[in-house]
Amino acid sequence: MSCRLRGRKEEWDVRASSLARNTFNPIRDIIETLRIQPNPNKSYIPLSVGDPTAFGNLQPSENIIDAICDTAKLNESRNYGPTIGHWDARQAVAEYSAHQGSVTADDVILCSGCSHAIDLALSVIADVGQNVLIPRPGYLIHKTLGEGLGIIIKYYDLLPDKNWQVDLESLENQIDENTAAIIVNNPSNPCGSVYTRQHLEDIIDVASRYRVPIIADEIYEHFVFSDHEFTALSSLSKDVPVLTCSGVTKRFLVPGWRLGWVIIHDRQNILRKEVRNGLLSMSTRILGPNTLMQKALPRILKETPQSFFDDTMRFIESQARLAYTELKKAPGLRPIMPQGSMYMMIEIKTSSFPKFDNELQFISQMCNEQSVLCIPGKCFNYPNFMRIVLTVPEDILREACHRITKFCEDHILKQHLKKMDHDVVSIVNDEKNVKSKQNLLKNIT
Ligand SMILES: Cc1ncc(COP(=O)(O)O)c(C=O)c1O
Repeated sequence: MSCRLRGRKEEWDVRASSLARNTFNPIRDIIETLRIQPNPNKSYIPLSVGDPTAFGNLQPSENIIDAICDTAKLNESRNYGPTIGHWDARQAVAEYSAHQGSVTADDVILCSGCSHAIDLALSVIADVGQNVLIPRPGYLIHKTLGEGLGIIIKYYDLLPDKNWQVDLESLENQIDENTAAIIVNNPSNPCGSVYTRQHLEDIIDVASRYRVPIIADEIYEHFVFSDHEFTALSSLSKDVPVLTCSGVTKRFLVPGWRLGWVIIHDRQNILRKEVRNGLLSMSTRILGPNTLMQKALPRILKETPQSFFDDTMRFIESQARLAYTELKKAPGLRPIMPQGSMYMMIEIKTSSFPKFDNELQFISQMCNEQSVLCIPGKCFNYPNFMRIVLTVPEDILREACHRITKFCEDHILKQHLKKMDHDVVSIVNDEKNVKSKQNLLKNIT
C-alpha cells in the first residue's frame, strides 16, 4: 500500500523538531572555532572549566558523602516519588531557604539541577514570541533555554566599572509590552559580582513599576567574599513575583549530582493559580529528579557544617586576590576583582595587541603558546574580555597567571614597538633599563 494514502511522503523525511533546531549552546561552538592546540611542552591549564570539582582539590564535606552512602542502602532511595519531589526534601529546601523570605514545602519544586529549574521557570512564565531580559555579560544557559522555547532574548547591560551592577536605565529601556520576565543572576557567572540590598531594591523597583516578574538565578547563593553580604532578591520584594532557582551544585561541590529547585515567592498572589499549576505540570515531564539525592537532601542541607562553606569561600577569595594581583602586572589586561562566585572577568585591551583581531584570536594563540585556556567574552556576549575560574589549585593558578603575563609581554612588545619610534625601542631593548621598560609598558596599556 502506498504511504501517500495516509498523506505521507514517498521519501523518508525525518527532521529535528523546531525546539531542537532552536536550541543552541554557543559556548561549545565558540570554543570549537578557536582551533586550539595546547603547547605540548607545557602542562595544559584549563582555566575555562566552571566545575569546582574538575581538579580534585575541592572535596565535598564528608557528611555529604556519608548521607548518600547511607541513603543508597534504603529501598526508598530507589523508587519514584512525586514529580515535584518528596515532601521531606522540599521541606528541607524550604527551611534551608528561609533567608529568601517565608517559604513552605508547597513553594518548592525539585529539579534536575539549576539549569532544569531555569528551564521550568522560563517555560511556565513566557510564551513563544514573548521576550525575557537577561544580563550582558551573562551565562548563556538562559539564552540557550529561552531561544529553544521560542522566547525572544533581550539584553540589559552590566557596568564593569561599577562592579558589574545592572545598568538600570538599560534594563528599563528593554522592557516592552511583551516582556514576560527579567532574569537576575546574583552572584554572577561570569562577573563574580555580588549585589547590595540597595541595588537589588533598585532592580525590583524597575520590575514593580512595569509589572514584570523576576527569575532569580541564585545558584551561587552565599558564595560571597568577606566584606560582602549575600541578599536573596526575593527577600526584598513586596509585590514582584520571584521564581528563585538554585541547587546544591556549587555550594556543596557536587555539580554532577544534579539536584536543584525552583522556589515560588508570590507575596501578593499575583501569579495566578495557573502559573503554580503550570510549574507542577511541567515537573511531570521528567517524573521528578533522582530519588537518591532527594532522600539524602535533608541530611545534606542540615548537617553540612558552616566551616566547610567558610573554608571553600576562604580558598576562592584568596585565589581571587592572587589572580587579581598577578594579572594586574600583565600589560594589556585589566582584571576586575570579583566579590563572590568563582570567576573573574579580565578585559583584554585588544588595541594593545594589534596582531589579534579579537579576543578569540588572543585566547587561542595564548593557549597554543602557553597552554592556558580561558573562556572568551564572546561566550558571555561580551567581547574583549575573558573569564577565568578561581577554583583551580593555587600553584596551578599562579603558574597560569605567570604564563598569561608572559604571553602579554611577548605580544605587546613585538607588536607595539615595531610601530614606535627608534628612541623608545632603544629604551626597551636596553635590558638594564628595566624601570623605563616598565613605565613604557604602563603607558601602552
Ligand atoms: C549562573 C548559572 N546558572 C545555572 C547554572 C547551572 O547549574 P546546574 O549545574 O545546577 O544545572 C550554572 C552553572 O554553571 C550557572 O553558572
